[in-house]
Formats: sequence, structure tokens, C-alpha cells
Amino acid sequence: MDRFLVYGGRTLEGRIRTAGSKNAVLPIMAASLLTNEEVVVHNVPNLRDVRTMSAVLRKLGVSVTFEAGTLRLRSEDESSWKAPYELVSTMRASICVLGPLLAKRGRASVSMPGGCVLGVRPIDLHIKGLNALGADLIVEQGNVTARDARLRGAEVFLGSAFGSTVLGTANVMTAAVLAEGVTVIEHAAVEPEIEDLACFLQAMGAAIEGVGTHRIVIEGVKELHGCEYTVIPDRIEASTYLIAGALIGGTLEVEGAKAGHILALLDTLQAAGVEVERDGALLRVKGGGDIKPVDVTTHCYPGFPTDLQAQIMVLLALANGISIITERIYPDRFIHVAELNRLGATIRKESNISIVHGVSRLSGAQVMASDLRASAALVLAGLVAEGETEIHRVYHIDRGYERIDDKLNSVGACIERI
Ligand code: EPU
Repeated sequence: MDRFLVYGGRTLEGRIRTAGSKNAVLPIMAASLLTNEEVVVHNVPNLRDVRTMSAVLRKLGVSVTFEAGTLRLRSEDESSWKAPYELVSTMRASICVLGPLLAKRGRASVSMPGGCVLGVRPIDLHIKGLNALGADLIVEQGNVTARDARLRGAEVFLGSAFGSTVLGTANVMTAAVLAEGVTVIEHAAVEPEIEDLACFLQAMGAAIEGVGTHRIVIEGVKELHGCEYTVIPDRIEASTYLIAGALIGGTLEVEGAKAGHILALLDTLQAAGVEVERDGALLRVKGGGDIKPVDVTTHCYPGFPTDLQAQIMVLLALANGISIITERIYPDRFIHVAELNRLGATIRKESNISIVHGVSRLSGAQVMASDLRASAALVLAGLVAEGETEIHRVYHIDRGYERIDDKLNSVGACIERI
């Protein structure tokens, strides 16, 4: 199992290019099941999750090739309809084959994703939404299964105590595009990745209105065709590098990110006293200054993303005072707290809140990565900590960050992969 050895204290200076968005490309890949024509997707990051989704799709009769950031997908054999536990259990996002399978093949069986380090993570809203379209899904032997689905448009409400659901919206949207009649999704997720999926479906010939809003109206069509599409840049990857620059620049430039997708982060950085300059397609951050404490609450888009909560915690761990971080999407997403405390941070967790007492320095230690974004936070902490930080189980980070060690080393970091 790979480990990272991070030698702390090197200033970051230079430019990092943002990769394509992981969370946009995964549902887009699943949506290739909706046609028998070839779908070509550009700006695809080379990530373990993309390889896992490719494996799921191959099991479902899709031919997949990936070369130089371009995926070619063609659904060739429609006889299979089951996404097995071995794959789904390694990546929850496999659940987004459910909607396309029901819509195109009329049947689907996807292993129920279990809980994970982020908490219980139910899929009740996916099931409710797809059943409203007539899927008749049941849970049996650990799988969510429907055998003879004839989908019809319906009104579907996707709100919950935690806001909307990103992949639940993806599933209902991809099912509705081939359903008979009109579907209205109320309280749809408005994350840029869902907007990107809708634009991709439009490129396939889907009739969708209200893209990027909480009310999406879809008129089912008889069939969809192949298309060529370029996915949006990864706002979480770009933001992670901006936080790295804030912690330990130099002047670090992040290229190719959409500033409009990361306004909540930019606002938080500004409140923390970190300067970020926008210069065309570049975001330039100057780091190393005093950090002011800031209270952060995670919300659905366009609020502060839960996928950056661990990374911003590292910055605030070094602030001049006390910050309160409230997690409203995944109340249990705080496993990184104990690991950051091993590096000298002073963070106390109380239910879905972490109280971060800023300290003046972190010092390197051995730590354990627990999930994708928590691992990224440990890398950031290692960059700023004095001495060496050894991060175990970095396979988590390879799920969602393309060559994070190479990218950071190219701007002056010293990270060894062992
Ligand atoms: N929820 C329900 N019922 C459902 C679905 C969700 O109660 O049927 C709850 C969840 O438990 C959570 C909240 O609703 O409290 C939001 O969950 P959501 O369904 O939106 O999450 P997701 O679609 O499974 C995606 C991203 C996550 C990201 C969340 C929130 C992908 C592949 N995953 O997950 O990304 O944290 O939205 O923005 O798009 C990551 O990239 O590291 C990651 C975990």
C-alpha cells in the first residue's frame, strides 16, 4: 500500500493546472448507457474512481477506452443489468448507473452502497425518485433491484434534512430523459456537476429545462444519440491547491478553474486574510501571512462545500484565534480531526461541530488517511508542518486527485511516494 513522505516547510511557487472534475465525469460516464452510439468525453482526469466506473460499465456491456484524457464509451451489449458488490463497495458513485439502466434497459440491480467514513449515507431519495417514475425498485439480498420498469414522467421532490441529493438528482434526471411524458424535479441539486450532467444529456438530445436551478423539467424523448463533450474543471481540486498556496506560498497560481464555482471558498479565504487575485483563467494566491479565524458552515452549492471542510480546517488550525466549523451535510465527517491533532493542531469535536483553536505551528508525524478529502487535508498539513509527515493509505487520495504528489512537487513541495 502506497505511503507519502511529506517533507514540510518548502514554499510553493509556480503554476498548477486544474484537472477535469471527478464528480462531473462519473455520472456522465454512467449516462453513456442511455445510447448505443459512441460517447466521447474530453478533459477526463486519470483517477482510480474513473477506472472503477470504467470497470462497472464494462460489466454492463460498455466498451471503454481511455487515452490522453479522452474517454470513448459505447454501450454494446444490453443483456447485463447488474452492478456487483465487489465494485459498488469500492465506490459509492457506482449507484449512478441505476437511472440510466432503468431508462434504457428497463431493469437494473445495483448493490446497495453501505455506510462509509462520512456516515450512513442512505439512498432513500434515489429510490423514492425513481419509484415515482414507476421503477418499482425493491431492496433484496443487498441489492436495489427492478425487473420490469416502464418509466413515466412524474413530479419528484428531492429535498431532505441535509438539503438536496447530488447523485439522487443525477439518477432521476438520467431516468427521466427517456421516460414517457414530463418529469419535474423539485428541490434538485444545483451543484455545477449536476449542471454539467444536464448539459451533457442535452448534447445527447435530451429535452431539459431549468438546468442549474432547483426546478428541472424534463420531457422524455424516444431515444438519445452519441455526442462529444468536455467536462468542467474540478472545483474541489483547484480549491485544495488554493488552500495549499494560502498555507505555504510563495505565490501559487491555479490555472483553468472556474472562479464562479468556488466563490464560497474565495470568500472564506478573504475573511481569513488570504489574498487571491483573479487574472483571466488564473487564480493567484499569496500565502504565508497571518491567518484570521473564520467560522465555516458547510452547505449545498453555492454554500461552502463539505468536500473542502477538512482542507479548510488545516488552514484554520493555524489561525490567530478560534474558528467554529459546522458540518451540515455529513455530521460525522470529522475523522481527520484526530489525525490533525497528532500533528499538533488543537481541535475539539462536539457533535457536528469542530472547535479549532489556532496554533502557531504543526509538527510532522505518522498519520492515517481515512477518506479522499481527509487525505488531501493531511497532505496540506504535511506541507506546512515542521519535519516529516508520513501518510499511510494514500490510495484514498488517488481516487480523486490526479498525481497530487507530482503536481505539488512541480511547484516546490517535497513529497515522496513509497
Ligand atoms: N441523503 C439522504 N438520502 C439520499 C441521498 C442523500 O438522506 O437518498 C443525504 C446524505 O446522507 C447527505 C446529504 O443527503 O447527508 C447529501 O448527500 P448527496 O446525496 O448529495 O451526496 P452524494 O451525491 O452521494 C456527492 C459527491 C460527494 C459530496 C456530496 C455532497 C459524487 C460522486 N459525490 O455525493 O463527494 O460530498 O455529493 O456534496 O458526486 C467526494 O468527492 O469526496 C465526495 C464525497
